[in-house]
Amino acid sequence: MKTIRVINGPNLNMLGIREPDIYGKTDYKALCELIEKHAKELGVKVEIMQSNHEGDLVDWIQEAFNTIDGIVINPGAYTHTSVAILDAAKAVGVPMVEVHISDVSAREDFRQVSYIRAACQKTISGHGINGYLEAMDFLCKGE
Ligand code: DQA
Repeated sequence: MKTIRVINGPNLNMLGIREPDIYGKTDYKALCELIEKHAKELGVKVEIMQSNHEGDLVDWIQEAFNTIDGIVINPGAYTHTSVAILDAAKAVGVPMVEVHISDVSAREDFRQVSYIRAACQKTISGHGINGYLEAMDFLCKGE
């Protein structure tokens, strides 16, 4: 059975409370439940992680080497700043999809750069929390 790891960066634990006009009203716990339900439907194992600390994301990507079949990553604000997360992703070569709940392309200039994108097979942005489920579909079925 395939294992997918879902990695969430800073402030995603604040979903539902945080700027609901941008990120929606679904809280983090409900997001995790949706991801787990979808994993059952796809017949895959899923590991869901969240941290506000850049090094944790680097560690979780490194640990995926040879153990995890695909990574769904929403690095939050580290998307726009972290060469370390990009380097970890390039080091392990695990298939990876970048997800953003909001449409970052329609937001501030500082959100127009994504470091992690260079290591990802696909980017899903602006599809709300459904983007996580689409990313899982892509990693499992290539669609
Ligand atoms: C985000 C977009 C980022 O710019 C922001 O810093 C986040 C969330 C999103 O999911 O839309 O924390 O990654």
